[in-house]
Amino acid sequence: MTQVKSVFTTREQTRETDEYFLGSGREIRYFWEEKAWESGQLKVPAKEAVNKIGHGLHDLVPEFESVSYDKRIARICKDIGLIKPLAVQSMYILKSAFFGGEVTPHQDGAFLFTEPQSVVGFWWPLDDCSTMNGCLWAVPGSHKTVPVSRKFRRKDPPGEGTEFLPVEPVKWDLANAVPLEISKGSLVIIHGALVHFSRENVSGKDRHAYSVHVVEGRPGVDYPSDNWLQRPPDFPFRELHI
Ligand code: FE2
Repeated sequence: MTQVKSVFTTREQTRETDEYFLGSGREIRYFWEEKAWESGQLKVPAKEAVNKIGHGLHDLVPEFESVSYDKRIARICKDIGLIKPLAVQSMYILKSAFFGGEVTPHQDGAFLFTEPQSVVGFWWPLDDCSTMNGCLWAVPGSHKTVPVSRKFRRKDPPGEGTEFLPVEPVKWDLANAVPLEISKGSLVIIHGALVHFSRENVSGKDRHAYSVHVVEGRPGVDYPSDNWLQRPPDFPFRELHI
């Protein structure tokens, strides 16, 4: 278990922007819950204090690779219009019983930005999901009405960390958000502009999940060099094939 105290949060004011995070696209790295540490000590056992593991599982662990590049996923990608789907990011999300933190409202397109927008998330719950253990919530139709207007990017010059542009947070309308109370083994497909979030796990049941994000890799779709997630030339994003 790594001793790097990098936490994961979508709450922009506190997001760690260290090299541990920025280099995780080509590695398997561990990110702590925000509240995991107190006075230099873990407050709960490490396996409960980890928020997520990422972001290169799909290319580095055979079991995750087989799921992520499954021909059925490739077929879905084609069916929803992706010409050259590239798997760019994977995460094992723990959201442990009584300890897993919230994920604040966001659009995945802000974190995996392409021009034009193309990111799609595939999200598998590995435990049954309820409002008690922190299921996903989503705002129906928001992918059609709320364009991605903000971007999480590496600062210029490189090495200065990350930032949101524009700086001002989006004021989300969550009045119509619905909980996705689904059973383990389901598959949720998340449009890059869908406004979604999850709350703390206040139950005694874990809410583990695995997710992969795919972007369009065809000519004419740009994956900007200031996206937080980058791969070195000798470890490029791979295409899903039917
Ligand atoms: Fe998300």
